[in-house]
Amino acid sequence: MATPRRTALVSGGIGGLGTAICIALAEAGNRVVAADLDGNAERVAAFRQATDGLDIAFAPLDVTDFAACGALVQALQASHGGIDILVNAAGITRDSTLRKMDPTQWDAVLAVNLGGVFNLTRHVVEGMAARGYGRIVNISSVNGQTGQFGQANYSAAKAGMHGFTMALAREVARKGVTVNSVSPGYCETALVMAIPQPIRDGIVAQVPVGRLGQPREIARAVAFLAAEDAGFITGANLPVNGGLFMAF
Ligand code: CAA
Repeated sequence: MATPRRTALVSGGIGGLGTAICIALAEAGNRVVAADLDGNAERVAAFRQATDGLDIAFAPLDVTDFAACGALVQALQASHGGIDILVNAAGITRDSTLRKMDPTQWDAVLAVNLGGVFNLTRHVVEGMAARGYGRIVNISSVNGQTGQFGQANYSAAKAGMHGFTMALAREVARKGVTVNSVSPGYCETALVMAIPQPIRDGIVAQVPVGRLGQPREIARAVAFLAAEDAGFITGANLPVNGGLFMAF
């Protein structure tokens, strides 16, 4: 029997990792909707160019807006018949040592990186459970596993994402819905390239494979967990970090 065509929603979908994730999911045969802020026209245009010819649409969304997340999910329910795959990839950094961190830096990172996961998943999960099928993949980070100097906000949010993953995985396991995390290491994205070069060089020197990851190497892990035949993997965290953090 042919695999049914699935609909995937990717938050942060036009970002560094998000774009590669959209492409990988589309190449796997899914209809993809990339949800992201639309304030930067150049960024949107670059995304459209990178994904030209693929079944990938763009939907403006601020994941910190609970009502807007609900409205998008409802609209996709009407136009696409529901969302089968949700990738929570919206993420920002506001790096600072805790001693210098102000509440706006804390609040912004928690609101996007963790609040955004709640806002979107809360609306998507009901339809998945009702239809008896779903794949949710949360993009966490190696820095949620190890902590990182200057990232108390980001590390807290990313560790929190995996707690969310495990709790929700239990709640929806009997409904055909899997919930997993992918924890990328340092990849060649704008987020990482914004780290001052001497600090970045020091980080890369600690990566056993000796280089930054490529976004498509993260996307491959996401597509793996989002696939039809990944139904026995749930509540897991898949690290893709070039060996920067090894654990079992
Ligand atoms: N470990 C221990 N000490 C460190 C350190 C480290 N990693 N980095 C800096 N220090 C020391 C410095 O040597 C300095 O010591 P002295 O006071 O004795 O001189 C002290 O800590 C203060 O450091 P900085 O001068 O660097 O402090 P700052 O306020 O200027 O900068 C910072 C702080 C902005 C957080 C900067 O250190 C930084 O950008 N770090 C990189 C953070 C990072 O890795 N972010 C990841 C972004 S990418 C991402 O998040 C994607 C993903 O998931 C992987």
